[in-house]
Amino acid sequence: MHKYFANTLFIGKHVIYLPSCHSTNDMAARLVPENKLFDGSVIITDHQTAGRGQRGNTWEAAPGKNLTFSIFLKPEFLEVENQFYLNIVASLGVCDFLNGYMGDEVSVKWPNDIYYRTNKMGGILIENSLRKGTIDTSIVGIGLNVNQTNFSIATATSMAMVCNQDFDLEALTQELLKSLEHYYLRLKKGLYEQLREEYLRKLYWIGESRVFKSNGQFFPGEITGVDNIGRLLIETEAGKKAFNIKEVEFIK
Ligand code: BTN
Repeated sequence: MHKYFANTLFIGKHVIYLPSCHSTNDMAARLVPENKLFDGSVIITDHQTAGRGQRGNTWEAAPGKNLTFSIFLKPEFLEVENQFYLNIVASLGVCDFLNGYMGDEVSVKWPNDIYYRTNKMGGILIENSLRKGTIDTSIVGIGLNVNQTNFSIATATSMAMVCNQDFDLEALTQELLKSLEHYYLRLKKGLYEQLREEYLRKLYWIGESRVFKSNGQFFPGEITGVDNIGRLLIETEAGKKAFNIKEVEFIK
């Protein structure tokens, strides 16, 4: 794995490659107080032994077959109330990159699971630290299933399973970082509304009549969007409701 990704402006100009580590997000968090990371630093590993997912889940990835990395960012321009835009740009960056390989059946299951049709191909775990009303640091952890073709979770899929070919992980990393940087720079320019609209266009189940679960209760509803702080908006029989990440499950 190269230690320098040449085709970006700042993301991946400094790379820490670890053959194996617990979690690239944890490793990044450990290196921040030691001042070992710069805006755009990437921590990447071939083998994550204790990968973390959202909602306290684990992230399993066969060694040497997938992408598991974290980007360290200093989004000091971003106000705390707009922090969900980091989820938006990371999701769009991964989706757009995948669109080039498998067309437009890639979507984002709120808040930022990456899906191909009804199968999960990737996940994003963003951990921010706040300072005086803005985001001081952000660790954007990305797990993308690439060459793995056997999963313990029946609904998981990978680029290899969809495209029937193996991929060069290093070339993909370069390309994915470029795509992520493109969306991040648009956020830096303040293109909030455009990014939000693009995110909504990719949102899994948006505008469809579906069944959800909250507080142990199943209910029919239709996703209509996300609010300014990133809560999922669902039109229910009792009117429009906003949900935080642990408050709602997608059922069918
Ligand atoms: C999810 O779908 O629940 C999010 C999964 C995020 C996994 C990535 S892999 C690289 C980074 N390090 C971690 O421990 N987690 C993220």
